[in-house]
Amino acid sequence: MAPGSPRPVALVTGASSGIGAGFARALAARGHDLALVARREAPLREVAGTLERAHGIRAHCLPADLARPGAPEEIAAGLAARGLAACLLVNNAGFGVPGMLCDVPWERHRATIEVMAAAPVRLCHLLAPAMMAARSGRIVNVSSLSALLPPHAGGTLYYPVKSFLLQFSLAFHAEMRPHGVHVTAVCPGFTATGFRAAAGGTVESVAVPRWLWSEPADVAAAALRAVAANRPVCIPGLFNKMVAVAFKLAPAALGRRMVRG
Ligand SMILES: NC(=O)c1ccc[n+]([C@@H]2O[C@H](COP(=O)([O-])OP(=O)(O)OC[C@H]3O[C@@H](n4cnc5c(N)ncnc54)[C@H](OP(=O)(O)O)[C@@H]3O)[C@@H](O)[C@H]2O)c1
Repeated sequence: MAPGSPRPVALVTGASSGIGAGFARALAARGHDLALVARREAPLREVAGTLERAHGIRAHCLPADLARPGAPEEIAAGLAARGLAACLLVNNAGFGVPGMLCDVPWERHRATIEVMAAAPVRLCHLLAPAMMAARSGRIVNVSSLSALLPPHAGGTLYYPVKSFLLQFSLAFHAEMRPHGVHVTAVCPGFTATGFRAAAGGTVESVAVPRWLWSEPADVAAAALRAVAANRPVCIPGLFNKMVAVAFKLAPAALGRRMVRG
């Protein structure tokens, strides 16, 4: 690194818990300095402090509410003010939205679009140019296995938003390839995090057997392997891969019946 040039960091959104904290742990163990984003400052600082002590890295906290337009610009400005440059971006922040569209207050839907669609795209738009100039960089967009399932009632906005992030990521992967920047969309299935509690505990409130659940550490490890290899999509876990194939091969009507069941 040239003297005076910005220090490279891995920027992880939604790093105060769950899959985002799993990414932070995995990246710190690989020696990356971190910039961590979420709304709740106390858990964010706890993750940062623990990883600094365990791995001797620097972990910067940039508390922000990504539902607020302008937050991505403030995050980029926060990096620049600290003399940091993101060499790796994980767009992970998100939440579930159970319920029929008109039963949920508009503010929740607006936040869904801001946090899981607008903010990831804006962060790519802000941070990718420096990666292109350096001819290196990694971007991971955390979509969902649900992005690969047929549309259905009750997942009226969450599923399309995750599909949008997947499609955006695939296109951006193609756009970044000639510039040496790797882009991967990750489609986790059921993962043992605070996701369902944050959504009110009722997202897909089916009794899912324990063996079907992934751990955040496994999701993060699979995603980091995939982005290192510049694979456009990563579906962590054998069962989730089989689900994705089944829905791809099933006729549309059968697919819709399967997802309702
Ligand atoms: N768990 C699953 O089964 C599963 C499956 C597929 C995909 N996913 C996706 O994985 C990602 C991570 O979810 P998770 O399962 O790890 O859930 P989680 O444990 O609830 O973590 C969600 C993270 O997003 C952050 N976040 C939420 N709203 C935010 C906002 N407005 N501004 C900034 N940060 C915000 C939360 O931090 P604060 O509350 O501190 O802001 C938290 O750090 C999400 O995009 C989710 O859609 C999860």
